[in-house]
Amino acid sequence: MISPEVIEEIKERCDIESVVSSYVTLKRAGSNLNGLCPFHSEKTPSFTVFPSAANFYCFGCGTGGDVITFIMKIEGLDYPGALEFLAKRAGIPLDLKGQGSNEGKLRSRILAMNREAARFFHKQLYDKNGASGYAYLTQKRGLSDAVIKHFGLGFAPNDFGALTSYLGALGYTGQEMADGFLCGISRKTGKPYDYFRNRVIFPIIDAAGNLVAFGGRVMDNSEPKYLNSSDTPAFKKSKNLFALNFAKKKGTEHMILCEGYMDVIALHAAGFENAVATLGTAITPDQARLLKRYTKKVYIAYDSDAAGQRAAERAFRLLAEVGVETKLLKMKGAKDPDEYIRKFGDVRFKNLLEEGKSRFDFTFDNVLARYDLQKSEDRIAAAKDMTSVLAGIVSSVERDVYTHKVADQLKLPFEALKRDVDRLMRKNQADTKKNEMRTIVRQTEGFQDRVNPDYIKNVKAAKAEEGVLGILLLFPELIPVAQELLVNDDFCTDYGRKVYEALQQFYIDGKLEFGRLNEVLTEEQMGRVMRMKVAREGLLNNETVLRECADTLKFAKSKKEMDIHEIIDAKRRKQND
Ligand code: UTP
Ligand code: MN
Repeated sequence: MISPEVIEEIKERCDIESVVSSYVTLKRAGSNLNGLCPFHSEKTPSFTVFPSAANFYCFGCGTGGDVITFIMKIEGLDYPGALEFLAKRAGIPLDLKGQGSNEGKLRSRILAMNREAARFFHKQLYDKNGASGYAYLTQKRGLSDAVIKHFGLGFAPNDFGALTSYLGALGYTGQEMADGFLCGISRKTGKPYDYFRNRVIFPIIDAAGNLVAFGGRVMDNSEPKYLNSSDTPAFKKSKNLFALNFAKKKGTEHMILCEGYMDVIALHAAGFENAVATLGTAITPDQARLLKRYTKKVYIAYDSDAAGQRAAERAFRLLAEVGVETKLLKMKGAKDPDEYIRKFGDVRFKNLLEEGKSRFDFTFDNVLARYDLQKSEDRIAAAKDMTSVLAGIVSSVERDVYTHKVADQLKLPFEALKRDVDRLMRKNQADTKKNEMRTIVRQTEGFQDRVNPDYIKNVKAAKAEEGVLGILLLFPELIPVAQELLVNDDFCTDYGRKVYEALQQFYIDGKLEFGRLNEVLTEEQMGRVMRMKVAREGLLNNETVLRECADTLKFAKSKKEMDIHEIIDAKRRKQND
């Protein structure tokens, strides 16, 4: 265990504002800071950092907590892992004496093992065993030694035991190799065997410079073309981008997003060192946020086939949701950036960037391609498709410009098209409001309340309970007063009782060790703790109010709990109001 003093020291030195700022662009709003929530997709900022209280809360998705919770969530670490992470950031040496989290230990073992494996693969390329790999990369794919070295490319020999015996001699166990996805375990013999065989190897390095995974390509037309590491304790495919370690240095203004390893390598070799690629899957929201962290604008350079263009639509959408500007590259005469550069050279590729298509033009072209504009019914259908696209544009200036463009192209009167767009926007707005209302009703009434399913059973008592907890979270010095007024069993929900127990457990020397609540509460439960705290902030909070809440809680709890039929009745009445 890390001592409470050290935890305090870590939190002291890692102030929440600067830690969060390295992931989220924050704007000052009074004494707090606002930004777009990194934990869900949103267009208006509801993510708030409260520097004075050293915590954060998202009013959109309900995630909240202190700096440790934030790191646990955003880096996907457990509690000890997040402490280690922050200690490292603050330059506090943690003398764990091998007591670090098991997860953290396995992670660093795998990372060290990956480095050894990469060294092994790279060396094979210059060995006689690897002649076929070297010939493939240099002759077939036209890569120079400098590029091979820069990316640390390698070769996995056609052998079931080459890497496993190499790593075994270095002291890595078969289980560790399997956990790191470098070997499989034979069902017959129980022995490890090499997973990557007779393939050229692409090491994958994360933004922090860790060697997290590998991709391996066959050198002929056999299937599967690429093998990739699956997720391991050191690697999440959905949260990494190939070559981001290089691109983050050159790509602050813009990056080029490709589909394939070879596309990225060809682009870097041609001087476009701001190219990155997803790892064999469609772009994820996490990857969009990752891009947002390092760049302002993304050129989507996906394959020109139908699948690539469909994937581009998704990239446009996800990147827009996180607020990254986007343009699509149209590569005529080549299937992907690698082929384009080879056929037409770097100068023409640079021109492509200037001709990049906006999301609107991309969508409009796709719609136009589906219809025959000579036919009036087709023009009407195209107008209908475009009306919904136009109604989705938030900026009224932009919407106006594009409405003109559509009206011109479809030879329709601007005013009529605009009326349809306005009507649809009003309808969409009404629908959104209705949905929001529904969500609020559900949440306040506790339907689908996963964190606190008991809430609905006795709303009055549960509300009083939240009052008690909210006050104690804000003013932990009142915890002894609460202990006189209430016993644990007075709490009416399991969740409330659990939080109250934790508050007492971590109330030490007149102070609440807030961060340690993370040890016993899940992330969702922690989020609700923050909500209770924030909810009380604007209200009157003192010992008298605490007594009132405690009385209400005890009184309301003594009333019989509602059964499910009463709950449904109550809900129906509410909806009819
Ligand atoms: P592509 O099939 O477009 O390959 O897949 P590529 O990158 O252009 O490769 P070359 O030029 O034929 O050598 C794009 C990406 O999809 C993933 C890989 O990450 C690849 O770079 N992929 C593809 C796989 O993971 N598995 C496969 O079998 C194929
Ligand atoms: Mn290719």
